[in-house]
Amino acid sequence: MSTASLYQARYGSADVAVPSAGSPIIDHLLAHRSVRAYLPDPVSDDTLAAIIAAAQSAASSSNLHAWSVVAVRDPARKARLAELAGDQEHIRQAPLLLVWLADLARLEAVAQKLGETPAALDYLEMFEVGVIDAALAAQNAVTAAESLGLGTVYIGAMRNRPEDVAAELQLPSKVVAMFGLCVGTPDPQQPASVKPRPLQSVVLHQETYSLPAQQAGLEYYDSAMSAFYTSQGMKVRGTWSNHSTKRVRDAGSLSGRDRLVEALNTLGFALK
Ligand SMILES: Cc1cc2nc3c(=O)[nH]c(=O)nc-3n(C[C@H](O)[C@H](O)[C@H](O)COP(=O)(O)O)c2cc1C
Repeated sequence: MSTASLYQARYGSADVAVPSAGSPIIDHLLAHRSVRAYLPDPVSDDTLAAIIAAAQSAASSSNLHAWSVVAVRDPARKARLAELAGDQEHIRQAPLLLVWLADLARLEAVAQKLGETPAALDYLEMFEVGVIDAALAAQNAVTAAESLGLGTVYIGAMRNRPEDVAAELQLPSKVVAMFGLCVGTPDPQQPASVKPRPLQSVVLHQETYSLPAQQAGLEYYDSAMSAFYTSQGMKVRGTWSNHSTKRVRDAGSLSGRDRLVEALNTLGFALK
């Protein structure tokens, strides 16, 4: 695919400007799409090792490596995790599920071994460090997996029932699953399409932030996403704005995640 068509698909616009700066890595990133239909072909240990090396190559706050990942291949465990995560069929179908963890247990053990009580781990800041580290590592894994011809989809629903997921994965105190990532060979019979993003005027601010400056871009995005839903035969009612508003309307839209603070407290995160 040419760089120009990659840009057109990314922004859902035939007349998007293509920057003169470019690289094979940027082209690769522009072609990302979530995959929700997989062939049963396993992901080998060798492939997993390469994906994890890429994940570990992400930057890490203060070089603390406050994340871990659990590779789940056992169909029975995947099925149990699928049930905990909104019963999503692609979790059962993908040969590999990576569960990305914010992990403060390792740092606690390291400090305790040196005779210290790591009181700073009880602050929201350190939880955020774990979340950010896990997200950066996971996104590198996505890019690496895609470069090997694999497909992926994140599973935020892994936070619907955090205590049950923790029990299933035998997580110690101060470790929590942030999201899953299905990994596998995309089923060529059910190819995924590149989903448009808002124009850069929506997300990119020069020097200072402005909400009004985003308005025209958001209106365009509603039309681009409506065209995308139609092209995919998706029965999404209304525009992207309608769809997104439903997701933030009330606590009930959070699929159980409205009690995340309570769950995190139970799992050993004081979040001061
Ligand atoms: C943190 C996170 C959690 C997500 N959770 C889910 C999920 O539970 N199920 C799912 O099918 N897709 C999930 N997604 C995928 C998004 O729906 C998808 O990335 C978005 O619609 C953009 O589409 P694209 O990835 O194909 O560009 C998640 C994505 C992210 C970043």
